[in-house]
Amino acid sequence: MQIKSAEFVISNQDVAKCPNSKLPEYAFIGRSNVGKSSLINMLTSRKSLAKTSGTPGKTQLINHFVINKNWHLVDLPGYGYARVSKKAKKTFQKFITTYFEQRKQLVLAFVLIDIRHEPQPIDLEFMQWMGEHEIPFSIVFTKADKLKPKAIENNIEIYKNKILESWEDMPHYVVTSATKAIGKDELLNYIDSINKSLRIQP
Ligand code: GTP
Ligand code: MG
Repeated sequence: MQIKSAEFVISNQDVAKCPNSKLPEYAFIGRSNVGKSSLINMLTSRKSLAKTSGTPGKTQLINHFVINKNWHLVDLPGYGYARVSKKAKKTFQKFITTYFEQRKQLVLAFVLIDIRHEPQPIDLEFMQWMGEHEIPFSIVFTKADKLKPKAIENNIEIYKNKILESWEDMPHYVVTSATKAIGKDELLNYIDSINKSLRIQP
C-alpha cells in the first residue's frame, strides 16, 4: 500500500470525542518509549506527524490520523510509565482500556514490544487483558536496528516460547525498525489486506 495522504484529525482523552466515522481503525499501543510514535512516522513517511521523544510519556492523548482518506491510524499513550506508585504503574491508564473496550471502529491493535528485552510482565499482562476482552492484536517488535539478525531471531524464539505458555498460538507479528524503515511494507500490506477483506464483506 502506498500512503498518499496522512493527516492529523483530533487528540483527546475521551473516547466519546474520537471521530464519529465508519473508517476502519488501527491502534498502536505498548509501553512508554517503545517507539509507537516513531513507527507511525516511519509508516507514513512523515518526519513529525506523531510527536516523539527520548523521554517516556511523550504521547498523552488518543491521537487520530486519517490515511489515504480511508482508514484511521491511532497513536496512543504508553502504558507502564507514571510518576506514581509501583501499584499504579502496573495498571493501564483507564482511558486506554476504555478506548479498547468502547471503540467499535477498531479493527486491530498493534502491540509494540522492544525486541532487545526479554518478555516483560506488563506487556504479557496487557496482551492477556486484550485476549480476555477479545480485542484482536498483532505484535510489532521495534528497534530491530539495535540488534544483529541472530539476536533478533533468538529473542523472537524466546518471546514465542513465553507466549505459548499461556496462548495456543503465537499471534501474527512483524519485526520493525523506525530508523531503518524495516517492516514498513510488510506492515502496510498487512493493513491493506485487512482493509480489502473488510470491503468485500456484505
Ligand atoms: P510514548 O509516547 O512516550 O509512549 O513513547 P513512544 O512509544 O511513542 O516512543 P517514541 O516513538 O517517542 O520513541 C521513543 C524513543 O525511542 C525515541 O528516542 C526514538 O528516537 C527511539 N526509537 C523509536 N523507534 C526506534 C527504532 O526503531 N530504532 C531506534 N534505534 N530508536 C528508536
Ligand atoms: Mg508516543
